[in-house]
Amino acid sequence: MIKKAIILCGGTGSRMFPVTKSVNKQLLPLFDKPMFYYPLSLMMLSGIKEFIFIINERQEVNFKKALGDEKDLGIKIKFIVQSKPRGLPDAFILSQKFIHNESVAMILGDNFFYGNMLSPIIKSSFKKTLGCNIYLYPSNNTSAYGVVEFDRKNRIKRIVEKPKKTNSNLIITGLYVFDKKVSEYAKKLKPSKRGEIEIVDLINFYKKKRKLSVVKLGRGSAWMDVGNFHDLHSANNFIQNIESRQSFKIGCLEEIALNNKWINKKNILNRIRFNRNSRYSQYLKNLI
Ligand code: DAU
Repeated sequence: MIKKAIILCGGTGSRMFPVTKSVNKQLLPLFDKPMFYYPLSLMMLSGIKEFIFIINERQEVNFKKALGDEKDLGIKIKFIVQSKPRGLPDAFILSQKFIHNESVAMILGDNFFYGNMLSPIIKSSFKKTLGCNIYLYPSNNTSAYGVVEFDRKNRIKRIVEKPKKTNSNLIITGLYVFDKKVSEYAKKLKPSKRGEIEIVDLINFYKKKRKLSVVKLGRGSAWMDVGNFHDLHSANNFIQNIESRQSFKIGCLEEIALNNKWINKKNILNRIRFNRNSRYSQYLKNLI
């Protein structure tokens, strides 16, 4: 069972300049909450209570401001600064002590997931892992993501980062599970032409060792990387549509913690004070 997760919230956010010159991308609003609330909420829905946030220098104070007191959310968070974006697997090198002797999940702070059966699927995948789990989603924009290519017998051939051409439409989302050896393996990776160590190299390494499992997220679920304005705008509309039709919020951390029985009415009252006279507070009032 996976008990810990890394939320990756570093990077330059250069695709969103000039907006992200002064604000970390993962702190930008995704409809009515900070962007990182959504990947964090998915991990909480999957039963995870212990987190490492990988962040840029001088950002801890801003993330803490956006989160408030983590005790009122029933979770534990540690922050680790990544001084420059050395690539996704660098998170495992920086978090070696946190990973210790356990498997760990990692989710990108700019990834949005939504779907009816999503958290049970992810939760059950967290119970069984060969060494590395990846979560695939069909996409018609394969040149923007990591892509899984299959051979004629429909076995995984390799994983390629942002291929110009490919015969596959299955991309890798920004959610991963790796076993306790991941930090050791990440240290052995060599930087690619773009000067970063690559998550696909790490995944291919596990594949060679026959330790790779894939979970296909069905067409009934939604996944978006909201690391550019076009996709951020689409996700804003998507969340606004669902929330206003159902009157349920997507990614409400307090609601998830309360349903998981990690917090009680007193914690919700603290969160209502924290969020003052916002609509978010109003929603929390309705929970109790
Ligand atoms: O969103 C899914 C895609 O994410 C995968 O399909 C790709 O295989 C994977 O490489 C990644 O691609 P991106 O082009 O989206 O990666 P990006 O460089 O934008 O980094 C993803 C997030 O991780 C982003 O929020 C910034 C953060 N990051 C990135 C790097 C390179 C860090 O915190 N530290 C880093 O060193």
